[in-house]
Amino acid sequence: MSAITTLSLRHPQGDTPIHVGAGALAACRPDLAAWIEGRTVFIVAPARVRELHGEQLEETLAAAAHRHCLEVPDGEEAKELRVAERLWAEMLTSGGKRDSRVIAFGGGSVGDLTGFVAGCFLRGVEFLQVPTTLLAQVDAAVGGKTGINQPAGKNTIGLFHHPWKVVADTELLGTLPAPEIRSGLMEVLKMGILSSPKLFTRLEDGLEDLLAGDPQALAPAVAAAIQGKIDIVERDPTEKGERRLLNLGHTLGHALETALGYRALRHGEAVAYGTLFATRLALRRGQLDPVIADRIGGLIGRFRLPELPAVATRDLIEIMARDKKARESGLSWILPRGLGECEIVADIAESEVLQALEPFLTDPFVG
Ligand SMILES: NC(=O)c1ccc[n+]([C@@H]2O[C@H](COP(=O)([O-])OP(=O)(O)OC[C@H]3O[C@@H](n4cnc5c(N)ncnc54)[C@H](O)[C@@H]3O)[C@@H](O)[C@H]2O)c1
Repeated sequence: MSAITTLSLRHPQGDTPIHVGAGALAACRPDLAAWIEGRTVFIVAPARVRELHGEQLEETLAAAAHRHCLEVPDGEEAKELRVAERLWAEMLTSGGKRDSRVIAFGGGSVGDLTGFVAGCFLRGVEFLQVPTTLLAQVDAAVGGKTGINQPAGKNTIGLFHHPWKVVADTELLGTLPAPEIRSGLMEVLKMGILSSPKLFTRLEDGLEDLLAGDPQALAPAVAAAIQGKIDIVERDPTEKGERRLLNLGHTLGHALETALGYRALRHGEAVAYGTLFATRLALRRGQLDPVIADRIGGLIGRFRLPELPAVATRDLIEIMARDKKARESGLSWILPRGLGECEIVADIAESEVLQALEPFLTDPFVG
């Protein structure tokens, strides 16, 4: 077993320790045993994750008085109100109390749902995040944002409810399909551009091992990305300002996901294209050293993203205009200024975006 790194996120509700590394779940067994001793424990997981890794989690739960597995649909379908309602009902009929324990065991969708369910149940019960995807380990499980979707918008209903602890065991990532690793690594790259030239260089030096999903190689990269997120979230826990930097690549990325019906590109892949475009905008504005822009483009190129599907410039502009109307503060762009430094640009004229976007859609890797 390799060394486990323990990080800590200070937030308005207290402190959340975050344990990262290959074998972190086994290493946390004594802490977990004390937390669940004599309690009713609810484990929220999709069938697939339980089949793959359920045994490993079960081994840590022997001290609980009662254990209930609450099965949820896979992926985004878990983040629905009817699923949350079913969980609350099952928890109540199984004797759930204010001091019961809840465990999120799955990807970001399971973590978002479980945090929301735990945050509302009897006005808030403690929950543990055991993220099983790379994206959830480096991003979704950290920072206290929880929520579900509404037909009118993703993540529109939710609350800040921080977990008691996060256990990011990189051994659990061994069963993830390669595109899920790539998508999660894009979030790691995002943190490198945002706040850590060292992390960016680590990706440049070892991308192939990381893309291969090696748990030992992934552990320090996951820890560094989480530390980057912690630094930002501690300064702006409720996203009043600086935390919006975490949306690097999301302005165009979200428009691409919407235009392509959330099917052709995974979230991290859309963010990768969005980050390339933000880099191009920064370069065109004379705000970014071309050498740095080349390094960002070169590294994203090595991710071997699926080709950008044909999408009309007009459609993207319209979706971004709709997003802009939906926010009282307008549409913002996160633009890199260097490695480890980005800025929030409140508004960029549509004509400027259009001029950059047309050639970008033809060839995202040139310019
Ligand atoms: N709360 C936040 O701050 C935050 C931040 C970023 C993203 N998110 C949310 O996270 C969600 C996306 O998370 P995601 O990318 O983890 O997707 P996901 O939860 O949908 O999981 C992706 C797929 O991986 C499978 N899976 C999970 N663990 C596995 C494992 N170890 N081996 C094999 N397969 C496994 C799942 O069953 C699912 O099919 C979105 O809903 C997004 O809104 C939240």
